[in-house]
Amino acid sequence: MFHLTLSQQAAVTVPIGSDLSLRRSAFKAPNLNFRDKPWAPVLTLDLKANSSCLRSRNVVCMSVQQASVPKVSVSPLELEDAKEPPLNLYKPKEPYTATIVSVERLVGPKAPGETCHIVIDHGGNVPYWEGQSYGVIPPGENPKKPGAPHNVRLYSIASTRYGDSFDGKTASLCVRRAVYYDPETGKEDPSKNGVCSNFLCDSKPGDKIKITGPSGKIMLLPEDDPNATHIMIATGTGVAPFRGYLRRMFMESVPTYKFGGLAWLFLGVANSDSLLYDEEFSKYLTDYPDNFRYDRALSREQKNKNGGKMYVQDKIEEYSDEIFKLLDNGAHIYFCGLKGMMPGIQDTLKRVAEQRGESWEEKLSQLKKNKQWHVEVY
Ligand code: FAD
Ligand code: A2P
Repeated sequence: MFHLTLSQQAAVTVPIGSDLSLRRSAFKAPNLNFRDKPWAPVLTLDLKANSSCLRSRNVVCMSVQQASVPKVSVSPLELEDAKEPPLNLYKPKEPYTATIVSVERLVGPKAPGETCHIVIDHGGNVPYWEGQSYGVIPPGENPKKPGAPHNVRLYSIASTRYGDSFDGKTASLCVRRAVYYDPETGKEDPSKNGVCSNFLCDSKPGDKIKITGPSGKIMLLPEDDPNATHIMIATGTGVAPFRGYLRRMFMESVPTYKFGGLAWLFLGVANSDSLLYDEEFSKYLTDYPDNFRYDRALSREQKNKNGGKMYVQDKIEEYSDEIFKLLDNGAHIYFCGLKGMMPGIQDTLKRVAEQRGESWEEKLSQLKKNKQWHVEVY
């Protein structure tokens, strides 16, 4: 259970929630699945402050964990210094060659489709901020331009700027394998499967990967007010940037960003086996009940009030009064994932606004003007 990390400062690492009973009690929907993840978050306790941990490990470290919620120390803190986010440090003509650290399937056996968590070592050379994306150029030739490389595919980064190893040297992606099924036979046609997502999900530790970026400013986490409210709406892999935000808010110890506001995540997936990073998010519910809310919409397991599929927009409707009040008080709202969710969400918000005697068009233009409205769908 305990081991020394490789981080520059000597540290003891404790897997969060390695006690299953703790995880179960932390979780509010007992009929959902749990899967142990090798990349499960770790708490890093500074050895200088907790040297007794080494002498009497279990007792001291448990009491530390219970007394408060220790956060992970991260480095290098210079990653906080820039005033502007890094942008397009590497372009398609001269991509950076990074190395795959790990590829882990995130979903259970009953999930339709496969989603993988991919950790990439960029050696600290392709820094990024939470909410940005990397481009990936899959190996091989572009079928539309013989002799030329494939086009760049964008992937939202699912880690904070410090990466899952907290040392600023890695970035993580959350990738859904694009599989093509012949509409007539219903059978998979591998010749039409997505090039880049399959390359990423099939890659092995040590493989090389060409990346560009980082790119994107729309989904940057506004940090001017550490007590702000952030309402995050995700379908599937759209959860990626929110995982980054939440790790920054609740897992990492960043001296210049001490989050004291409210983060509210709505996550839409097909079923409980398809939930992404659920243990990590459930842990925040236990540790930060006043600062975190987490609502799941399981489209193929739950029904909405009309007996249809439970989608994120149905959850939004359920909490619409609170959401509208929070927006009126300056909350940021973010949408990431399936492009197809936006019309349904807009319809829901419009209907709710009308019921409240408000004009959705006016409200939306105000939200956009105030930079409270952030959309990245694909
Ligand atoms: P492609 O090879 O580009 O194929 C695209 C689709 O066409 C696939 O579904 C494929 O099966 C189908 N296809 C291929 N050939 C045929 C044919 N002959 N006939 C019919 N269909 C065919 N994705 C993620 O998984 N995670 C993310 O975090 C993420 N973030 C993104 C962020 C942004 C800003 C954007 C714009 C996109 C993001 N994406 C993300 C989507 C990602 O960029 C890719 O589009 C996705 O992975 C598919 O790329 P691919 O190379 O696998 O598929
Ligand atoms: P479903 O596929 O049951 O219709 P994916 O795994 O394909 O990325 O999808 C993530 C979730 O988004 C799934 O639960 C999917 O439901 C749901 N979804 C699909 N279409 C929409 C939509 N138009 N609005 C909201 N959610 C959607």
